[in-house]
Amino acid sequence: MICMYICICNGITERAIRECAEGGNCSLRDLECSLGVGTGCGRCREAAVEILQEALPVSAMQVAMAA
Ligand code: FES
Repeated sequence: MICMYICICNGITERAIRECAEGGNCSLRDLECSLGVGTGCGRCREAAVEILQEALPVSAMQVAMAA
């Protein structure tokens, strides 16, 4: 399996973001706190949100958008 780095500043992979989302983290803020995504240069934030949207069920995304 290919390991794709999303956040270069913090060495965070797409897989790590998906696993984090599956573990109940449903917002970018959650990813920042749990993994450190986007806490450096911030260039990975948009990609991280896209992965989050793909990984979360619709009901969880509605909660995330409201937060
Ligand atoms: S690439 Fe994620 S904070 Fe810089």
